[in-house]
Amino acid sequence: MAKKKKDEARVGIIGVGSHLPKKVLANEDLEKMVDTTDEWITTRTGIKERRIADEGTATSDMAKDACEEALKDANMKASDIDLIIVATITPDMPLPSTACILQSKLDAKNAVCFDISAACAGFIYGVSTAEAYIKSGLYKNALVVGSEKLSAFTDWKDRNTCVLFGDGAGAVVLAPVKRGGILSTYMGSDGTQADLLKVPAGGSKMPATKKTVEERLHYIKMSGSELFKHAVKIMADAGNKAASMLNYSCDDIDWVIPHQANIRILNAVANRMKLNSKKIYLNIRRYGNMSSASTAVALVDAVKEGRIKKGDIIVLDAFGAGLVWGAMVIEW
Ligand code: ACO
Repeated sequence: MAKKKKDEARVGIIGVGSHLPKKVLANEDLEKMVDTTDEWITTRTGIKERRIADEGTATSDMAKDACEEALKDANMKASDIDLIIVATITPDMPLPSTACILQSKLDAKNAVCFDISAACAGFIYGVSTAEAYIKSGLYKNALVVGSEKLSAFTDWKDRNTCVLFGDGAGAVVLAPVKRGGILSTYMGSDGTQADLLKVPAGGSKMPATKKTVEERLHYIKMSGSELFKHAVKIMADAGNKAASMLNYSCDDIDWVIPHQANIRILNAVANRMKLNSKKIYLNIRRYGNMSSASTAVALVDAVKEGRIKKGDIIVLDAFGAGLVWGAMVIEW
């Protein structure tokens, strides 16, 4: 699946940007909210703090800031963009799409806009979709942004979940490139495990009522340890498959930029892939799990910090609710 032929035109990332809310919620703050400790959170997850958006800030606002930075980095105007994909599980509202709201905020008049719901793998799903459109010739310049206000769907009374999540956005501009770009993609889904991570109410199955609100069914419910086992196996498998399509071994990979759900998951993934864990880029300590924004912000941070150099081979690797997963090899 999705391996590039040698003479095929490639699509690459030509600009990156991110937005992280200013407000920091540290583990010590959570100690005052639920029965937890900094020690438990740090050792069980690797998270020290996360960012929380203001009440008046929506997912599209964070996406706007990230996209404007990415456009500037790509030396492009919003009007140059003909496709906008927002990956999110925390849209501004059920309809219209967050992508259309974002289009208006960016004044990107010439873009076709839609959202993708693929939880923590949403950014990779979005980039892969944009790549396919660009390669087909239908669109030329795409903005893909993973943006999440998970704090709005987090039960701040549930210690099993509230210590994990944070808010933020990461964006990329994609366009045809002469060298480098996306080399291979491997994605998959398993809907039989859909119950492991969900927001039960607020959709067509269980519309909002007084009872659903009282029973706190509009918040994220998660079977953490079950997901943990799936995540390790699936992320390692996806990373290996995307690399093996190119006959690449671990030695050929410069960086794995993974979804940041739990540092123990990522250490186990490195182990299973037989990859030096120093090649796994980590920012979970400062942001926690930002779902679709996690892989995007990790990529942007790694670029801004100068970790990724021209010509490096990087592997984006993510897993999330659905279940859904994806890995993508990119030559930077
Ligand atoms: N503070 C203190 N104790 C806690 C806390 C907390 N914040 N949370 C749970 N505990 C307790 C539990 O109650 C349990 O206590 P018990 O043994 O008395 O019942 C104990 O700690 C162990 O609980 P587990 O759930 O087994 O802990 P585990 O080691 O599995 O860690 C965690 C939990 C961090 C959630 C882990 O399972 C995980 O990271 N799972 C994967 C999450 C994931 O990958 N999600 C998918 C992507 S997210 C997306 O798509 C949006």
